[in-house]
Amino acid sequence: MPSSTAGENVGKILLKAEQLERRFGGLTAVADFSFDLKEGEILGLIGPNGAGKSTTFNLISGFMPPTSGKLFYLDENITGKSATYISRKGLIRTFQHDSLLSEMSVADNIIIATTHRLKNAAARREKMREMAKLTGLENYLEVTAGSLPHGLQRMLSIAIALAAEPKVLCLDEPLTGLQGVEVAAALDLFEMIRSKLGITILLVEHNMRAVMRICDRILVLNHGRLLAEGTPEEVSRNELVIEAYLGHKK
Ligand SMILES: Nc1ncnc2c1ncn2[C@@H]1O[C@H](COP(=O)(O)OP(=O)(O)OP(=O)(O)O)[C@@H](O)[C@H]1O
Ligand SMILES: [Mg+2]
Repeated sequence: MPSSTAGENVGKILLKAEQLERRFGGLTAVADFSFDLKEGEILGLIGPNGAGKSTTFNLISGFMPPTSGKLFYLDENITGKSATYISRKGLIRTFQHDSLLSEMSVADNIIIATTHRLKNAAARREKMREMAKLTGLENYLEVTAGSLPHGLQRMLSIAIALAAEPKVLCLDEPLTGLQGVEVAAALDLFEMIRSKLGITILLVEHNMRAVMRICDRILVLNHGRLLAEGTPEEVSRNELVIEAYLGHKK
């Protein structure tokens, strides 16, 4: 088990999906998808383009309801609850395509995310500074978000998510467009988020080397269905997984 959390709660199930399904007209984007996310782990969710990964994030974060199936978070049935309700309970997601307030400063982008938790302006500012420092943004506080280089915009998305004080952080392709050295720094950050901040991570990512390095466990989706589940070693040896990827190269 990861060493991040201590005491009797290590490994308890934080999020449970039961037979999730999401249809868009005639297309079934997610089908019969059941999984558990355990406290303290970094769980990978991988699969070829269009496999249903972002749709799964939309379902668990309340951005859209499942067509059928159930979701439990912290032992509460959250199926059909709003995105605001779920985020206030500490399940926070980032977006595959950046959702920054590009005309606003880095500082203000982060401060806005603190407002549900912190009522005091000084406390919000302190939180903002802390999160900016963690993500390497402390020298860019007054820069507008839209003018940051791409890699730092990805970091800002993570700072914003962290400012909301997640228990569970769902990252949708956070490494896209990052350079080698930025990827290494981002992976160190994810490890630190888990070990020092005690935050459980669900990671969607196409960078297989990164996924294999950082995840404790991996779920593989294909055409909306769970194709395989296991440790990075198990998944990378799985014939069905290899076939699915070779058939759907980007
Ligand atoms: N709002 C929507 N309306 C209609 N179809 C959708 C919608 N969102 C997703 N889809 C479809 O559902 C399927 C799964 O999409 P999804 O975005 O979840 O895939 P993904 O695994 O995140 O892919 P990628 O790796 O390219 O990000 C795709 O066929 C997509 O076109
Ligand atoms: Mg996606």
